[in-house]
Amino acid sequence: MDFTVMNEVKINDKVFRKMIDESAILQRVQEMADRINLDYAQKSPLVLIVLNGAFIFAADLLRRLNVGPEIQFIKISSYRNAMVAGELEEVSLGKEVIIEGRDLLIVEDIIDTGTTGEYLRAYAKVSGACSIRLACLLFKPDNFTGKHLPEYIGFEIPSDFVVGYGLDYAQKGRELRHIYTLAG
Ligand code: IMP
Ligand code: MG
Repeated sequence: MDFTVMNEVKINDKVFRKMIDESAILQRVQEMADRINLDYAQKSPLVLIVLNGAFIFAADLLRRLNVGPEIQFIKISSYRNAMVAGELEEVSLGKEVIIEGRDLLIVEDIIDTGTTGEYLRAYAKVSGACSIRLACLLFKPDNFTGKHLPEYIGFEIPSDFVVGYGLDYAQKGRELRHIYTLAG
């Protein structure tokens, strides 16, 4: 199957239609990287990639950075296997990762309600981060109830559920090249 020409995908019981093309995503990721390279020119940030959803965005973004980042992975989730928010799980980060005194750049796939982002910022703050910023590919302003707006935003989108480019529906659809939105 050629995923580059698929305008519609079916995952389980739901149909999703193409919303943001891979080429538009990559162009925007380059622009975000350009900004981050300027802002962190004098710093070597500690980049925390929020698993699982951010893995593809982070891979594309980080390969466009020239600021010598240290890269670590963090796991926390507010969604389980559905489209509704559930309980936040515990943060899991390697014991060897020292946040204290570091300029932290959190990389998220999407900021929806903002709960996960606020939780991570609070965690980073008590861990002694020197500065904290957040980069997300997607932002749903209509759902957002957080205190801190993401410092780097790829696209503002409506609150409809999306999949692809790392984002899942019930753990499926992460491999899709484009971003798809729930149809109908
Ligand atoms: P928040 O805590 O409400 O901001 O939600 C953040 C997390 O929920 C993201 O990191 C995603 O994993 C997940 N999420 C939110 N909206 C969507 C969506 O439309 N598709 C897939 N995952 C989503
Ligand atoms: Mg996520």
